[in-house]
Amino acid sequence: MKQPLQQTEIVAADSEGVAQAARLLCAGRLVAMPTETVYGLAGDARNAAAVAAIFAAKGRPSFNPLIVHVASVANAQRIAELPQAALLLASRFWPGAITVVAPLRTGHGLAPAVTAGLNTVAIRVPAHPLAQMLLAKFDGPLAAPSANPSGRISPTTPAHVLAGLEGRIAAVLDGGACAVGVESTIVGFEDGKPVILREGGISREAITTCLGACPTHTTETAITAPGQLASHYAPRATLRLNANDPKPGEIWIGFGPQCHKAKLTLSPKGDLEEAASRLFAVLHEADATGQPIAVAPVPDHGVGAAINDRLRRAAAPRSG
Ligand code: TXA
Ligand code: MG
Repeated sequence: MKQPLQQTEIVAADSEGVAQAARLLCAGRLVAMPTETVYGLAGDARNAAAVAAIFAAKGRPSFNPLIVHVASVANAQRIAELPQAALLLASRFWPGAITVVAPLRTGHGLAPAVTAGLNTVAIRVPAHPLAQMLLAKFDGPLAAPSANPSGRISPTTPAHVLAGLEGRIAAVLDGGACAVGVESTIVGFEDGKPVILREGGISREAITTCLGACPTHTTETAITAPGQLASHYAPRATLRLNANDPKPGEIWIGFGPQCHKAKLTLSPKGDLEEAASRLFAVLHEADATGQPIAVAPVPDHGVGAAINDRLRRAAAPRSG
């Protein structure tokens, strides 16, 4: 459903700005909030109208549940029944780029649409200082999917947010560019055993070290996170993977010194963390040229697994 346009204000990264963002959220309005991964489109997770507005602003299908952001593990435990393995991950990686999916606790207080009617909830404690300040000031759970129109490239700067959502949200809290650059890793649990539902900012290797066991990965046939749908993060142009050279007319995104001729690069020195932090900005930039996009190979270890996951989805054929 199309919403009427509204003025989207850019709110400064200071205590007055955070107070203003919190006031808007308390009034049921939507604020794009910086996190260390990507910008989130935040709304009061207890307010059914605010949650409905998130789905409407993004054009997100109502069956795709949202991530809830809270200030602390204790707050997460008021909402979700965290299994032992989730608590281990939380104590090691929160605040930070990992989301756990766990059963809802009775009396959780969330609007049912947040979880799309599921009896589980995806929850995390973000590390970005502005997100923490905002959660403290707002003093409640914030539902916040990535602040992009559904299916498009995720935003890592206020400009990306505005390009996709200006006029559809009340404000953007300006935290500059996001440091991690890819979304959180989502971990669910089956019989207490961890399952990676989405690769992300915390690597599989780090999770394995923390838990002392290697998590499994959901198969394509057992999708429980619609963010895993094949065509996602879609640029307007086509995207070709593992391109060691560009074809005529293509805009080439390089990785590493061997790609020094590339117009755009994820990381000139071949650093995966740098590549993750630049991934969505470089995709936005390549897409703006209107040319078909070719991307150099990226190693698949560490945060490279999340980068390749996003690139594969960006390259997938579109469904309509
Ligand atoms: O880093 C991030 O995770 C960012 C920042 C803003 O926190 N958020 C983010 O949200 O990426 P979003 O909505 O774009 O992706 C959330 C993913 C979706 O793929 C959704 O299907 C999945 O989490 N999800 C949410 N609740 C779930 C649940 N109960 N079970 C399984 N998957 C769930
Ligand atoms: Mg998203």
